[in-house]
Amino acid sequence: MGGRIFSGVQPTGNLHLGNYLGAIRNWVALQEQYESIFCVVDMHAITMPPWEPEALRAHTREVTAAYIAAGIDPQRCVIFVQSHVAAHAQLAWVFNCVAAIGWLNRMTQFKDKAGKDREGAMAGLYVYPVLMAADVLAYRATHVPVGEDQKQHLELMRDIAGAFNRRYDVDFFPLPEPLILGTATRVMSLRDGRAKMSKSDPSDNSRINLTDDADTIARKVRRAKSDSEMGLSWEPERRPEAANLLNIYAALAEEPREAVVERFAASSFADFKGTLADLAVARLAPIAGEMRRLLADPGHIDAILRAGAERAEAIASDNLAQVYDIVGFLRR
Ligand code: TYM
Repeated sequence: MGGRIFSGVQPTGNLHLGNYLGAIRNWVALQEQYESIFCVVDMHAITMPPWEPEALRAHTREVTAAYIAAGIDPQRCVIFVQSHVAAHAQLAWVFNCVAAIGWLNRMTQFKDKAGKDREGAMAGLYVYPVLMAADVLAYRATHVPVGEDQKQHLELMRDIAGAFNRRYDVDFFPLPEPLILGTATRVMSLRDGRAKMSKSDPSDNSRINLTDDADTIARKVRRAKSDSEMGLSWEPERRPEAANLLNIYAALAEEPREAVVERFAASSFADFKGTLADLAVARLAPIAGEMRRLLADPGHIDAILRAGAERAEAIASDNLAQVYDIVGFLRR
């Protein structure tokens, strides 16, 4: 065992290929090497609209189903829902008293998500990365497998862990290492090679959802934006759309990028996209099918989440009790 990993996905709907290739698929391999804890971060999901309680419940089960359908083993790993373990919110409060406002002001994701109306953004959106630090550090996890876009949050997490240790003169929290793995750490929109593939893009054609059926996947790949040049090449600056499709292919086929460039150097985009569509369907359609099967029995999913919460709680509440001692809270 190389340590303990923790990671999570927000249940905000539209789980997509970026979430799969950037995060979930890597976890499947990592569960063999690390003690693994995977969370559905519902408390993070209420930092932004839409606030739809029924949809949140459905999406929470959907993310759980995606984890399992992708190959995460609920026996071997802990799979649970963030709000089921109170220590996340409790530790986040302690960390709110460790993280400086200046650190939070630097977070680009907050700036992006808050948009122009910074004053109208929720305080929860602002302290989002503090809760994220609490998620990981409640388990004293050593590694955090995520996509590229979470890098800055991971740096903040390390700053918080280090500042806590120094302030109280302890060596309690590890400084978690990001694991940003593979060729698809930043999957881009199928409509715009310079924009990240995202759950919130209004165009459904910009992303491949994990719930898409075979026909939909194939159609979206065939209609993906490309350029007018013949053949593939790796020039992300000049040919962002080609680079994105190339990365997606390499990640799905688990082949080096260079091998893919070589194979399709003389192909038309139509041919390449046809092959990519077949590959994407072969890899993703079985996951969608398994998700549907799992979601047909919500009781089973809820039972997995209950068992996961118990295992998570046992670790987190013990760590929280030690933190409370360290900061000087009187024992009950
Ligand atoms: P979320 O829900 O936005 O995304 C879940 C995971 O998917 C990755 N990802 C991508 N990877 C490649 N290309 C993309 N286009 C793409 N879009 C998303 C993300 O990097 C992430 O790994 N803050 C986190 C959730 C979180 C968390 C945590 C993660 C809460 N607490 C503790 C790790 C540890 C988030 O919003 O992920």
